[in-house]
Amino acid sequence: MSEPRIVLSAEHVSKTYRLKSGILSNTRVLQAVSDVSLFLAENEVLGLIGESGCGKSTLSRMLLGLEPPTSGEVFLRGKPISSLSRKDVARILQPVFQDPYSSLNPRETIEEAVMRPLIVHRIGNRASMRHKVAQVIESVGLPRRALASYPNQLSGGQRQRVAIARALVLDPRILICDEPTSALDVSVQAQILNLLNELRRSIGISLILISHNLQVVQFLADRVAVMYYGKIVEEGLSSQILRNPAHAYTRRLLASALDVAPGAGIPDIETIAGAAALPTS
Ligand SMILES: Nc1ncnc2c1ncn2[C@@H]1O[C@H](COP(=O)(O)OP(=O)(O)O)[C@@H](O)[C@H]1O
Ligand SMILES: [Mg+2]
Repeated sequence: MSEPRIVLSAEHVSKTYRLKSGILSNTRVLQAVSDVSLFLAENEVLGLIGESGCGKSTLSRMLLGLEPPTSGEVFLRGKPISSLSRKDVARILQPVFQDPYSSLNPRETIEEAVMRPLIVHRIGNRASMRHKVAQVIESVGLPRRALASYPNQLSGGQRQRVAIARALVLDPRILICDEPTSALDVSVQAQILNLLNELRRSIGISLILISHNLQVVQFLADRVAVMYYGKIVEEGLSSQILRNPAHAYTRRLLASALDVAPGAGIPDIETIAGAAALPTS
């Protein structure tokens, strides 16, 4: 058997923020991510789970090359991501963020929004761009007439489909989805997760799926990494971790997730973590 091919990895990545506090301009150091190592294999879905404030988005910005680590390094296909241009990274690795409202320009039609990466990267001519955009819009389950629409004419779920289409238009090999369903109605969340699942099968893409909701991760992930206070405290096959969590924090996450009635939404961080909530002030 051949080894799985690693497409993205983090090696001993940390991030500290210096926060100015008070009139004496004292600085306080906040360790958002602390010595995290992880990898993503080809065609794999890695779930990254942890309560709000534990450092998931900070880690994802470093994995995307959007923010440099304070120490450690991220490698994209074996090369330090800091050595690659933004354009080179964008061809391989694309983000999908939580809020499809703020990530779409209200004055751009959906066609313009999804075409923009092709224009920036100068891929093809006008006709081939329009063809590609129509194709990718269809692949995310939107009707062609959505192309002429503006973001405010679409529902939250449709907008998130547009954001996914825009992430896919350059044919990347990896998507990093940071809470992709958290801003959506519960009924729509499952549709978006189903879409990601279908896309993963049909185009053989690798995914990092970040969520504070265990059920979201459970649905899609092959492997799960559990994050707590900036560290990965548990990692393994999702079937194993969810059935037999080794870490007390994971057990607590699981227990509180099971308390949630379908449709009742997600308990906030205080409910899940109790006294363990990360101080952010
Ligand atoms: N740009 C920043 N400047 C200062 N502190 C930040 C910044 N981004 C995140 N943090 C802090 O880092 C910690 C982790 O935040 P974040 O990565 O957003 O967690 P999560 O995505 O798991 O909710 C939080 O305490 C947050 O307040
Ligand atoms: Mg976050």
